[in-house]
Amino acid sequence: MSTHSQQNVIFTVKSGGKLAGRARVPGDKSISHRSIMLGSLAEGVTKVSGFLEGEDSLATLNAFKSMGVKIDGPENGKVTINGVGLHGLQKPDDDLYLGNSGTSMRLMSGLLAGQSFNTVLTGDKSLSGRPMRRIIDPLLQMNVGISAAQNGTSPLKIIGGKKLEGIEYTLPVASAQVKSCLLLAGLYAQGKTCVTEPAPTRDHTERMLQGFGYEVMRKGSTVCLRGGDRLQSTSIDVPADISSAAFFMVGASIAEGSDLVLEHVGINPTRTGVIDILKLMGASIELSNESEAGGEPVADIHIRSRQLKGITIPEELVPLAIDEFPVLFVAAACARGTTILTGARELRVKESDRIQVMADGLKVMGIDAEPTADGIVIQGGQMTGGTVVSHGDHRISMSFAMAALKCTAPVVIEDCANVNTSFPGFTELATGLGLAVSSEVSD
Ligand code: S3P
Repeated sequence: MSTHSQQNVIFTVKSGGKLAGRARVPGDKSISHRSIMLGSLAEGVTKVSGFLEGEDSLATLNAFKSMGVKIDGPENGKVTINGVGLHGLQKPDDDLYLGNSGTSMRLMSGLLAGQSFNTVLTGDKSLSGRPMRRIIDPLLQMNVGISAAQNGTSPLKIIGGKKLEGIEYTLPVASAQVKSCLLLAGLYAQGKTCVTEPAPTRDHTERMLQGFGYEVMRKGSTVCLRGGDRLQSTSIDVPADISSAAFFMVGASIAEGSDLVLEHVGINPTRTGVIDILKLMGASIELSNESEAGGEPVADIHIRSRQLKGITIPEELVPLAIDEFPVLFVAAACARGTTILTGARELRVKESDRIQVMADGLKVMGIDAEPTADGIVIQGGQMTGGTVVSHGDHRISMSFAMAALKCTAPVVIEDCANVNTSFPGFTELATGLGLAVSSEVSD
């Protein structure tokens, strides 16, 4: 199971148009991953609705199936997980292939560290180039048996049967994946595991652990749990993913005459940086129908087009919008004036180097976009269109698709197959709202 060929999917997007109507984008990727992980480790049956049927969360689902967890679905977003308890996983027959999914690899490393058996985690070309020392170093401090390729990348080998010890760890970079990895290892560790973050990052793991009846203590920027307790099954309603909604939030902001409602979107305050940044740029965004779904706040988001203005993005918003910068750069390209981003070095080690890849594509479209070590400077202007390459990065593909709304000529985007990792049905949903996008497979 090591050959995973990828088709070259090409998006062609006609220029102009507007976005209008109502839609619900697919389920939150972060929450979908965690629902499978914690549901599998819980005692009893967990029912999930709104699950993201994208390749990333399916990679997690299949990994747990191959460790003996009986999981039914997904069917229309419904998944039933027959939890096996913290110590009920079985050794998989093969390496666990996690595709493009950094969240699967980093979170599962922590959880697998506590098992009695060994595992090997592999991924596609992009995932095999992403930094794993950030989890390996603290896991080694917990007495985990883990090794990587020489440059600190996957495949990761995790040696089971070790006695894990709780640690107090301060994250060198704001990363929810690293925090979650350590908390999941902490479930199996002797004593208390505490993680201190330099800036708030998404807290879905902490919220969901509590939803499964596991005590999590937070004091300021430190979150702690004690190993050895148990998870009790629950039901989880996964909200629509604000990271997927973000493409349409920007699209509707930049395309004149747009008027769009996105329904039941997760608005966890550790994820809403994109709303704050767009509002600072002058966007018209209103929330309504605010409620709670499975321990997470949700709302409908109403966006109307507005002329945006360039801003200096406050650094404290960076971790709260970390996945939305590719499309925010498109907003900046359409804004009046200059947008400056700093403190976002992490963007260089996502599914692609998102600073460089977006700068390259925006330049093709006639925009002055200058990368810096930890950010970018973008001068708003008139985008022309042209052929850009996504480097297999789902969020780059969808961001450039939205850019076409403000271009003078069509946009052709290469290497778009990975849109299916987070947003299956993107082209259909986008077409329904007014984006003239078509998708073809080239040889
Ligand atoms: C995620 C955390 C973020 C984000 C990723 C999903 C998660 O990564 O970029 O898409 O589900 O915990 P980092 O925590 O490494 O910044």
